[in-house]
Amino acid sequence: MKPKEKIVMLTCYDALTAKILSHSGIDIFLVGDSVGNVKLGYENTLSVTMDDMVHHTKAVARGNTGKVKIASDMPYKSYEDNPEQAVENAQRLIKAGADYVKLEGGKEIINSVRAIINSGIKIIGHLGLMPQSIEKMGGYKIQCRDEQSQKKLLEDALALEQAGISMLVLEGIPENAAKNVTEKLKIPTIGIGAGRYTDGQVLVSDDMLGMFEDFKPKFVKRYANLAGIIKQAAEQYSREVKSGAFPEEENIYK
Ligand code: KIV
Repeated sequence: MKPKEKIVMLTCYDALTAKILSHSGIDIFLVGDSVGNVKLGYENTLSVTMDDMVHHTKAVARGNTGKVKIASDMPYKSYEDNPEQAVENAQRLIKAGADYVKLEGGKEIINSVRAIINSGIKIIGHLGLMPQSIEKMGGYKIQCRDEQSQKKLLEDALALEQAGISMLVLEGIPENAAKNVTEKLKIPTIGIGAGRYTDGQVLVSDDMLGMFEDFKPKFVKRYANLAGIIKQAAEQYSREVKSGAFPEEENIYK
C-alpha cells in the first residue's frame, strides 16, 4: 500500500470486538501486549505472558469475520535472549491465528528477528518508545529528541529492514524523526504518537473509543466516549431494577 494508501491498524483483544470491527475499514488488528494494561489490570506490559497473548490472539481470530490481518505482540522475555525460543514462541502465535508477530527492539534483537523470518514468519518491528523497555527508558517518555538518538533510530530501522521485517511501528517520537525514517525505508512505517508522515497509524482501541479514562495522552484522539455511555446504561439498569421498571412487558415469557 505504501505510498498510495495509508495503513489502518487498531488494537483488538477479544472476539466480539473483532466481529464488530471486522468491516470498519481496519487493515490490521494488533493483539497488543497493551492487553496487560487495558484488559488484564497489570501495571505495565512486562507481566504479559505468552499464554495471555495466545489466548487473546485465538479470540480475535475467531471473531474476525472479515479479511483483517492479525498481528500479535511477542511479550517481554519471549524472544530477546534466545533465537530458538523466539521461533517457538512466534510459531505459537501464528498457530493461534496471527499473520504477523511484532517485536520491540533494533540491532540488539537482530538474531531473533533473522531466526523468526528464516522460519517463514512475518515480523513487524517496533522502535522509539518501547513499553517493554520502560524501566531502561525511565518511564513513558518521548524518545529520539536529539540527533544522536535519531541516528541510532535510523540505523536500527535499516538493520531491521535488511533482516526482512514487513513493516515497522514507530512509537512516541518527534514527527520529523518518523518522517525521516519513513522516507529512508521501503517497507511501511506505522506511527503511534509519531506524527502525520508515517505510512499508517495505530491506536489502542480502548483509548480512541474513550473506554480508558484515567488520562489521555496528547497523541490520542477520542472518537467516542464509551466509558460514559456504559456508566449511564448501568446506572439506568440499576435504577430500573430497584424501582421494578425492568423487566417490562416485552421482556417477560408468558
Ligand atoms: O501493545 C500495543 O498496543 C502496541 C501499540 C502501542 C503499538 O504495541
